[in-house]
Amino acid sequence: MKNTTTSIMQMKNSGHKISMLTAYDYTTARLLDEAGVNTILVGDSLGNVILGYEDTISVTVEDMIHHSAAVARGAKNALVVTDLPFMSYQTSVYDAVVNAGRLMKEGRAGAVKLEGGKEVCPQIKAIVSAGIPVVAHLGLTPQSINTFGGFKVQGKTETAAKKLIEDAKAVEEAGAFLLVLECVPAKLAKLVTESINIPTIGIGAGAGCDGQVLVIYDMLGMFSDFKPKFVKHFANAGDVIREAVKTYIAEIDDGTFPAEEHCYKIDDEVIDKLY
Ligand code: KIV
Repeated sequence: MKNTTTSIMQMKNSGHKISMLTAYDYTTARLLDEAGVNTILVGDSLGNVILGYEDTISVTVEDMIHHSAAVARGAKNALVVTDLPFMSYQTSVYDAVVNAGRLMKEGRAGAVKLEGGKEVCPQIKAIVSAGIPVVAHLGLTPQSINTFGGFKVQGKTETAAKKLIEDAKAVEEAGAFLLVLECVPAKLAKLVTESINIPTIGIGAGAGCDGQVLVIYDMLGMFSDFKPKFVKHFANAGDVIREAVKTYIAEIDDGTFPAEEHCYKIDDEVIDKLY
């Protein structure tokens, strides 16, 4: 069944948890879609896991369009949400609408995601008014890593927790249909989830959220630069790939690959005439 913003919003009260995973290419998107994930996030985490940057700061709108369009071609039923990268919406409401429009028009996104609370509500309102669904993102927002001074759990003091709840209410009021909560204490994420009408998707925010998201290369055990506490390896695809490549190299070396069944045939008469 095709997932839409409406069907995903309805899941908050239906008792079904929302599943979200990141993807950055057609083949992975197809696999996730076939497995039945509700929504695929083309996250700006592509800066880390695809492009090898140490953060998401250098990711461009063009990068996001390129990968979003590939994912959209592979996602038949999952709702594709694409990240607005750093400085593509913070600069002005106008920039936010233009770039969100590009992610939808050229990147075929079904919705866009941006980071921040009250300060980005004018952008959320304007993007939604332009007919583009918005996902908000609070807690540890990686585009502000230089302000936070590192990857730290957010909302641990009374002031910070109150601000998080106020920001969650503000982004809902501005028109966001979904809220990602990253690196927030589980009890606080549960309270935020109970305080708003739109669904929350947690990453390092406990089981009290309405759904969960992980970066695909983290959950498959393929990305090893760093492993946050909230990551669970659901497979060890990194080991599988390394072993497969070692076998490939060995079989090239000993002549086992390619075998008869991997080769194309030609009539011996033709070959004989070439000698
Ligand atoms: O870019 C990303 O992958 C994200 C998730 C971590 C939520 O924003």
